[in-house]
Amino acid sequence: MTTQDNENFDARAFRNAMGSFATGVTVVTMAKSDGSLKAMTANAFSSVSLEPPMLLVCIDKGASMHEWLDDIDAFGVNILSDEQQHVSNIFASSGTHPEPLSGIPHSIGPLGIPIINGVMLWTSCKIIHKYPAGDHTILVGQVEALENNQTINSPLLFHSGKYHQLGEEM
Ligand SMILES: Cc1cc2nc3c(=O)[nH]c(=O)nc-3n(C[C@H](O)[C@H](O)[C@H](O)COP(=O)(O)O)c2cc1C
Repeated sequence: MTTQDNENFDARAFRNAMGSFATGVTVVTMAKSDGSLKAMTANAFSSVSLEPPMLLVCIDKGASMHEWLDDIDAFGVNILSDEQQHVSNIFASSGTHPEPLSGIPHSIGPLGIPIINGVMLWTSCKIIHKYPAGDHTILVGQVEALENNQTINSPLLFHSGKYHQLGEEM
């Protein structure tokens, strides 16, 4: 057990510490009016409000997706299954990828948002708020449409920097 004040940990140590919180894995998707598409792996995701239905994602100001925030008014969130680790890896990697969406099968859904094939759940959201927060922007969206694929019940999980599958119910 170690206790640290904020002069004793850097960004990497903070990220490692926060990694003890187990999450699912999402892919955030966007589309511009010229038809170009973008996707980024994100686990800084939460539901926010039930009425109206709202959720948030946190986008790193250094991520190439961040540059898109001035040009779009909607985004999608795709919750990955445990068969989609490769999808998470592709959209977490930097560099140039063949378009569109690095060849990952998808369709275009409500609000023109890309939907990744085979996800557990997708939503399309209208952007309601953009809050600057340190080196990230918190993107709050109102959910305009969603589909929950109830035939897939095995989420991809992320904990301490590694992928996991769901274990036994307690
Ligand atoms: C499991 C996982 C979760 C991630 N969560 C986030 C996140 O919530 N927000 C974020 O901005 N980046 C997150 N990232 C990092 C981005 O996916 C990554 O930096 C980005 O795709 C790099 O794209 P770029 O080179 O186009 O900027 C995460 C990466 C992984 C592997």
